[in-house]
Amino acid sequence: MPEPSISVLFVCLGNICRSPLAEGVFRQLVREAHLDGHIRIASAGTGDWHVGRPPDPRMCATAASHGVDLSQQRAQVLTSGLLASFDHVLVMDADNLRDARALTRDPELVRRIALFRDFDPEPGDGHVPDPYYGGREGFEQVFTIVERTARALLGHLRQLHGL
Ligand code: 4NP
Repeated sequence: MPEPSISVLFVCLGNICRSPLAEGVFRQLVREAHLDGHIRIASAGTGDWHVGRPPDPRMCATAASHGVDLSQQRAQVLTSGLLASFDHVLVMDADNLRDARALTRDPELVRRIALFRDFDPEPGDGHVPDPYYGGREGFEQVFTIVERTARALLGHLRQLHGL
């Protein structure tokens, strides 16, 4: 199989809730579109507290209830090297945007970083809310936002890259 032509990295704070979900949902959409092999997908956190750990069990349970398996993922920290190895870096909130941008001074790399919700077809505040300290409904809300936005993102990338 040829090398993937596009690479997409999802970023949040801990890499155990929002970005693993975005990775899992997006991977599934890509598979359904028969585009696996064309798009390389990963996720990372701007913080390193959870490195090596699987996603939060509450996020895994919510994803599994929608048929998305996150269990094989392990948290990794965002570095400038990782950033440089992806074409599109989609971050979940304004803090992630600031922290990701702070890793590089290369304007070409800075241009690769965007808010994930810039692709959300529905109006919102531009951020995926952090569900970590809240209840179950917060995880469900994150799933709704991520699923809707990931679909739109895939449509955008297919157009942009002619896939
Ligand atoms: P995430 O959520 O950024 O969506 O993975 C969080 C996970 C862990 C922490 C904060 C947010 N934490 O403070 O450990």
